[in-house]
Amino acid sequence: MPEVKKIAVISGDGIGPEVVAEAEKVLKRTEELFGYSFETEHALFGGIAIDEKGTPLPEETLSVCKNADAVLLGAVGGPKWDSNPKELRPETGLLGIRKALGLFSNLRPAVVFDCLKDASTLKPEVLEGTDLMVVRELTGGIYFGEKFRRQGEHGEEAVDTCAYNVVEVERIVRQAFEIAQKRSKKLASVDKANVLETSRLWREVVIRVSADYPDVELEHVLVDNCAMQLLRRPASFDVIVTENMFGDILSDEAAMLTGSIGMLASASMGEGAFGLFEPVHGSAPDIAGQNLANPIATVLSLAMMLRLTFGYSDAADAIEAAVSQVLNDGHRTSDIAVDKSKAIGTREMGDLIVAAIKK
Ligand code: NAI
Ligand code: MG
Repeated sequence: MPEVKKIAVISGDGIGPEVVAEAEKVLKRTEELFGYSFETEHALFGGIAIDEKGTPLPEETLSVCKNADAVLLGAVGGPKWDSNPKELRPETGLLGIRKALGLFSNLRPAVVFDCLKDASTLKPEVLEGTDLMVVRELTGGIYFGEKFRRQGEHGEEAVDTCAYNVVEVERIVRQAFEIAQKRSKKLASVDKANVLETSRLWREVVIRVSADYPDVELEHVLVDNCAMQLLRRPASFDVIVTENMFGDILSDEAAMLTGSIGMLASASMGEGAFGLFEPVHGSAPDIAGQNLANPIATVLSLAMMLRLTFGYSDAADAIEAAVSQVLNDGHRTSDIAVDKSKAIGTREMGDLIVAAIKK
């Protein structure tokens, strides 16, 4: 018998439960085909947890997550809770869970599916072959540095400070090298070392750590240049590692190479293999409960979990291949359909992916 892996499932609000249900069907099929064994435990999170437990992140939900090997998250939020005080808002639960689980890196793949090339605003020949991963530091940098206002010579001034220590840089850089080793062995480290002291430290650490990964081809790219090159030669990037704010901006830029938000997966990792896997999109209240949501982002997030947390690359590859095949066969949910009248629903897309998974 294979070892039983525990997955905490927190599907959240809006389309969250709909898209997570499709990913669970995919997980079940993977179990049957590849002989792996998973145990899922569901817990309340976000708006639904506020309604039923009076807090977006109940203690029991956190302990279900901590006892699991990985977490699959749908999405949270909605107009119903928008005017609540901060501690009773779904987004507060999101920040809380990442912190409580010690997640310091955010991984965002941007893959251009050949048959969806036309959906992007960039020329198909520029996008051809694009398959990259942005690794963004999540817990340091200017977003978390000391902030204050003061009176200066010319009136009111605002100050944000950007700080990084070697431990924070080294742990994410090592993770990025390890991810690059499992992909096409190319790493771009993005910084602004020509002007920022934190970037100079970042680059020193990258160079020192690179000695342990001689098989990975390393390039240093200044962030402004990287923003340009992502549009000019996206296919030449494999793994991009960068600090918090640069990563926030570059991962959104990279996401737009691929077209719809309904296709974008993500992972948040800490030390070791534990991770939280979720689609990039939100709870989409405008289409919730109508079988309209694209489940592919969540299904691809599950594939990331199987690869990164469990090392089940065969199953992850099979899920990704099934998604490609269903798209190549012309099936589209309405967010990616050119002819909306031919679009299929959330459940139908899930069923087609399940049927297309091959060992
Ligand atoms: P959103 O991502 O929920 O929706 C933006 C647009 O994309 C909408 O038109 C929606 O219908 C569409 N869309 C999103 N996912 C889709 C999918 N899988 N298939 C087809 N269409 C899809 O972002 P929005 O509207 O800004 O936020 C809605 C709620 O979600 C808010 O309460 C927000 O705070 C929350 N949110 C939660 C996130 C999370 O749980 N990680 C991330 C982003 C937003
Ligand atoms: Mg952003």
